[in-house]
Amino acid sequence: MIEVKNLVKKYGEQVAVDHLDFRLEPGRIYGFLGPNGAGKSTTMNMMTGYLGATEGTIEINGHDILKEPEAAKRHIGYLPEIPPLYTDMTVSEYLYFAAELKGIAKKEWEKAVQEVMQAVRLEEVQMRLIRNLSKGYRQRVGLAQALLGFPEILILDEPMVGLDPKQIIEIRELIRGLGNKHTVILSSHILAEVREICDYILIISRGKLVAGDTPENLEHLLNGQNTLELEAKAGLEETRDILKKVPEIIRAQIERTEEGTAFAKVHTEPAGRNGLGKKTDVREKIFFAFSEAACPLLLLKPSKASLEEVFMQLTQGGEQIQETGSDASFSMKEEEGSEVSSVQEEGTEASFVQEEEGTEASFIQEEGQLEGSGIKGEKKEGGR
Ligand SMILES: Nc1ncnc2c1ncn2[C@@H]1O[C@H](COP(=O)(O)OP(=O)(O)O)[C@@H](O)[C@H]1O
Ligand SMILES: [Mg+2]
Repeated sequence: MIEVKNLVKKYGEQVAVDHLDFRLEPGRIYGFLGPNGAGKSTTMNMMTGYLGATEGTIEINGHDILKEPEAAKRHIGYLPEIPPLYTDMTVSEYLYFAAELKGIAKKEWEKAVQEVMQAVRLEEVQMRLIRNLSKGYRQRVGLAQALLGFPEILILDEPMVGLDPKQIIEIRELIRGLGNKHTVILSSHILAEVREICDYILIISRGKLVAGDTPENLEHLLNGQNTLELEAKAGLEETRDILKKVPEIIRAQIERTEEGTAFAKVHTEPAGRNGLGKKTDVREKIFFAFSEAACPLLLLKPSKASLEEVFMQLTQGGEQIQETGSDASFSMKEEEGSEVSSVQEEGTEASFVQEEEGTEASFIQEEGQLEGSGIKGEKKEGGR
């Protein structure tokens, strides 16, 4: 078991890891998910004893990583973000060398090296110099090194980076297999990489833990809360103009369906915020807005948030959330790849953001709202 308490890392004034608290149980696969620069590698470097913490403690099976480094490290296999490979060695030379460094008894080297080469399918390149290997194979050598002796806990920093889709599937299967007997912690900035294999996801943003739950529960977190889907017999621009009349709508993505109708995903204020009155039901307002414009509303229902949306909102990575103009209450954002000039007339997608200082996305982390799902009940500063 790994217990991280109040973990802080500062680089000068910059806080890279900001009071992390979590406990990882044996026999599970955990995903550290967060955008680049979130603090994943820094956290892993501290968990494996390669970096000292500014504050806080880390215990690996009851051993403090700084006070009893040898005892603690014995339980850990680590694949750093940039594996320290000796490129002038052959794969097998390097793995024997790594086995020695790990303190594996000499008589067990051969068995240990054979086992890991088999596990990550390196046998056919074992006599090749590491320098001549492709990125994918080098990554596997790094992984093999982490697996040597099959330690109880495996900490893998971005293990899929640089791998092609086929290799990703292979590594994923390998990790899934390891998860039966080992505790695996892997980091990624790509949601798709972790959702498939992780039992539990810890979302890290700006050094803080903003969510921790199973992929399924994270998905349920926002479901229906503040997102609506609607379809109207109207053009893109028309739909956008109607939606703009509803002040509770923070932003919307609108696209044209094959049938020529407009389909929109609408993010709204929770009822009762900003003095909008407790019982405001945005759906009523949307209904009347379309009705006034004499546009038939064909569908209006709460939307199921995808895990992507949860991730984007929690990490504030949503590109829909854009700052535009000084006091613009709405703005158009062209979807990537569509032609700027044609979006409104003939494009197939449109979206807008309703700017109201400090409101966008901040509802997700509002105090107490996410408690019970392992979310810290801390208040986030909205706005920038
Ligand atoms: N050695 C260092 N010196 C100064 N700042 C660093 C150092 N290492 C990382 N950082 C900063 O700490 C933050 C977290 O980095 P990192 O842990 O590498 O994030 P991640 O692995 O999630 O991409 C980033 O803002 C990064 O620039
Ligand atoms: Mg990193």
